[in-house]
Amino acid sequence: MKVLVTGGAGYIGSHTLVELLGQGHEALVVDSFSNSSPAALDRVRELSNGWLEHEECDIRDSTRLAQVAVRFRPDAVIHFAGLKSVGESTRRATDYYDVNVAGTVSLLRAMEASGCGKIIFSSSATVYGEPEYLPSDEAHRIGPTNVYGQTKAMAEQLLTDWARAEPARGAILLRYFNPVGAHASGRMGEDPRGVPENLMPFLAQVATGRREALRIWGDDYPTPDGTGIRDYIHVTDLARAHVAALARFATLEGADAYNIGTGQGISVREMLQAFERVVGRPLPHEIHPRRPGDVAEMRADPAKANRELGWQAEYDVDDMVKSLWAWQSANPWGYGAPPES
Ligand SMILES: NC(=O)c1ccc[n+]([C@@H]2O[C@H](COP(=O)([O-])OP(=O)(O)OC[C@H]3O[C@@H](n4cnc5c(N)ncnc54)[C@H](O)[C@@H]3O)[C@@H](O)[C@H]2O)c1
Repeated sequence: MKVLVTGGAGYIGSHTLVELLGQGHEALVVDSFSNSSPAALDRVRELSNGWLEHEECDIRDSTRLAQVAVRFRPDAVIHFAGLKSVGESTRRATDYYDVNVAGTVSLLRAMEASGCGKIIFSSSATVYGEPEYLPSDEAHRIGPTNVYGQTKAMAEQLLTDWARAEPARGAILLRYFNPVGAHASGRMGEDPRGVPENLMPFLAQVATGRREALRIWGDDYPTPDGTGIRDYIHVTDLARAHVAALARFATLEGADAYNIGTGQGISVREMLQAFERVVGRPLPHEIHPRRPGDVAEMRADPAKANRELGWQAEYDVDDMVKSLWAWQSANPWGYGAPPES
């Protein structure tokens, strides 16, 4: 298939491209590089022999985006481009709605211009908000508790209504749980700008000495060791879920949502211990009060994706930590050069 990939230079997009090209698909990336570097696409090219082109373009530039889509005539779109920080989304609400919702409208217009009716969207477990039951399946009520989650829920609704408007259209909403890890080669991984908000990239930077100590936000949750529990999913497993989802378009009518997680809960302390085992030494950490909006536990029921997409997570916690460490230790400054001292 010819696949237009928005945000393809980012963390999840770049890993997905390697899997897509490996399966013989062709890809055109549209990325503004606002949170990534073209160097990530060079690594994708290094790891795969497939057909990959890219255009530097903001998805909100609807004229340019439509020109790119009409020229390429994709069979399907995978839409990763977006802003993703929960904390930042409160302070920059307008930007989050502009990129994540208005940007998606602009993309749908470009798809209409090019005659493409199939889209896979990067959604998030954040759309569920405070869990009413665990593990959460796709029938769980939608009730985001932060601006980022609201933008994802709105984009899901937009895509659902768009897909229902024409019989030839289909939208697959993939609700990611907590993507972590890096490519097995150690050549590609997450390269956050500024201070990482998520546990794993922060931990990796503590291990390389770039940060002093891991901050654990709360050790008084009602969990066995008091720290928060999440459903971590290896980025390569997540990438493969997108490739598997492309086949779903053959029978899809309208829109459908799928949880992409392992179903296994891992606490912050367990992750820290797993990381310490891999690096072979204790890592400095500090306990801080809980962060507002954080929940005690979040875990996916991935049965629907297992059944309907024929997809199953294959990697375990050790694979997640080892691949992340291989990437971070070989590329302590990500895709960039170290700062001049
Ligand atoms: N990483 C996670 O923990 C996680 C969890 C759930 C959902 N998601 C969603 O998955 C998607 C990809 O996440 P990621 O972790 O790879 O993030 P990322 O920031 O690494 O990748 C996003 C990419 O989109 C690009 N981009 C941002 N705004 C753009 C715009 N206006 N026009 C064109 N390109 C733009 C960035 O330059 C970047 O390359 C996002 O939509 C995110 O909300 C991520």
